[in-house]
Amino acid sequence: MCGIIGYIGGKQAYPILIEGLHKLEYKGYDSAGIAVQGPDSLKIIKTKGKVSHLEEKAGEGFPVGFAGFGHLRWATHGAPSEINAHPQKACSDDFALVHNGIIENYLSLRRWLESEGHRFVSETDTEVIAHLIEHYYRGDLLESVQEAIKKVTGSFALIAGYRDEKDRLVCARKDLPLMIGLGGEENFISSDLAALLPHTRKIHILEDGETALVTASAVKIYNTDCTVLQRKAQEITWDVTSAEKGGYEHFMRKEIMEQPQALRETMRGRLLEGGRKINLAELDFAPEEIEKISKIFIVACGTAYHAGLVGKYLLEKILRIPVEVDVASEFRYRDPLLCADTLVIVISQSGETADTLAALRLARERGQQVLAITNVVGSSVAREADKVFFTWAGPEIAVASTKAYLTQLFSLYLLTFYLAQERGAMEQIELQKAGEALYNLPDQVEEILNREKEIPGIASYLSRWESAFFIGRNLDFAVALEGALKLKEISYIHAEAYAAGELKHGALALIVEGIPVVALAIQETVLEKSLSNIKEIKARGGYVFCFAREGMEALASEVDSIFYLPSTLDDIFLPMLAVIPLQFLAYYTAVARGCPVDNPRNLTKSVTVE
Ligand code: AGP
Repeated sequence: MCGIIGYIGGKQAYPILIEGLHKLEYKGYDSAGIAVQGPDSLKIIKTKGKVSHLEEKAGEGFPVGFAGFGHLRWATHGAPSEINAHPQKACSDDFALVHNGIIENYLSLRRWLESEGHRFVSETDTEVIAHLIEHYYRGDLLESVQEAIKKVTGSFALIAGYRDEKDRLVCARKDLPLMIGLGGEENFISSDLAALLPHTRKIHILEDGETALVTASAVKIYNTDCTVLQRKAQEITWDVTSAEKGGYEHFMRKEIMEQPQALRETMRGRLLEGGRKINLAELDFAPEEIEKISKIFIVACGTAYHAGLVGKYLLEKILRIPVEVDVASEFRYRDPLLCADTLVIVISQSGETADTLAALRLARERGQQVLAITNVVGSSVAREADKVFFTWAGPEIAVASTKAYLTQLFSLYLLTFYLAQERGAMEQIELQKAGEALYNLPDQVEEILNREKEIPGIASYLSRWESAFFIGRNLDFAVALEGALKLKEISYIHAEAYAAGELKHGALALIVEGIPVVALAIQETVLEKSLSNIKEIKARGGYVFCFAREGMEALASEVDSIFYLPSTLDDIFLPMLAVIPLQFLAYYTAVARGCPVDNPRNLTKSVTVE
């Protein structure tokens, strides 16, 4: 996500803000900017690219002033560019703000503000808040911010400043972190502890809906009713490195834990009325376009390909449209049979994977409409596709993809049920149930995350082997492939995923006494068959870790260890829960083997060579 830093006190703000931005760089970003409250103006400098470019731009004579705020942007609305970088201003140059998050109703607000005479210059949703603050300003910045945030729906962590109120900054949060560091006769604001800890360990963590008025010598925190709250600051004991990782030892574990929030971002503005309505108007499909889709190709690499495999089961089951899933590097060279009325979906976290990009280009050259599911605004895939569905997972730093995968799955579910809604392919009541299940999924993910401690024991056994199998049928097989990939890439254990029914056609020869086999037996329709496959393995001495669902207790006596997923959800949604213990399994196995979890050998986050 984006990063925010603010300062007010007796020192020059600029060097402190720049230092703070450097501290936030590890999160990933595409542009940077600062605003400093000068003697008679708000001086703004911003740039596309790195903080070092910003420093070059500011030059030797940096802006002078004792208060200000800075921002690192990870693009959401509008490509990375200087104009879209933060701080964003209102019509006059006197109001500015930096913002993390997404404003869902920015388009309607923008239209209304334009009708009131406001002029917009950027493509961002953030600019709307700057104009709202200007619109409601009656001589008190705090009140105008409080008024403005009442009008917006979505998520935000923000700092606002006004030229004529140099002695104060106003900040607010909803659904995203924002904290204030107390430093005596100076105060600091940031979205991230890592940027505050070099200055202070006394921290106020704002709660949802709260606003704060921050001066050099005082911090006043207000609740949603604008009443002042009395709250003591917390004493933080983390070091900077663990603060960057949210207190976790590795980015991978942090990103696994971020999945509920990532899903909430993916569904924001798309699942309405508690899930009863799916709105993907952003894709701008004409009704007849949706109606005539007669075939779908899904093209991707690695983890994104595995998400595509789940998508295939789903789209075919719900829409009854044939779906082919291709590894991007194969798609390109197999002369695929693309025909009119085919929709090509490419999936890529980074949006820069060379094989996926080449496949996208081939499809477009052949006249196909390409829909991209990606996490990175402004990426090549996002720019070249006809339609883009952003996953909004936030930057993923660990090489092993976790939250990006889950949000890709979630996006495919949203897309499938949206197409079903528009094609009339499902009964209204069934569609509502599906939407509600998706809406409640982040809570269910949280419950699985809370059971993390069930995994290290299994991982400890696994870590002593050089080879392991993952088996499953149907949707379970698609998840098994992802579980095996995760394990091999970070623990260096040779892990093979097999369609459970295929084992007896060859790989069963490799089952020896004690070999670990991760068996996914979640899908009820194939339970009997999965059980037979588990028995085949047990009969040959395999050590079976089973992932099943509540109600399948009969399996327990057949296996060596069992993890139950909740029975509250329909089978079709369970891949989104089943993958989580497998992510933990790979993680704890890699840790037990002393592997460099976040940066496995020979791999990079974004593979830009074919
Ligand atoms: C996942 O853990 C991998 N690191 C890798 O398979 C990755 O998913 C693949 O390289 C595709 O990347 P993309 O989603 O950025 O296109």
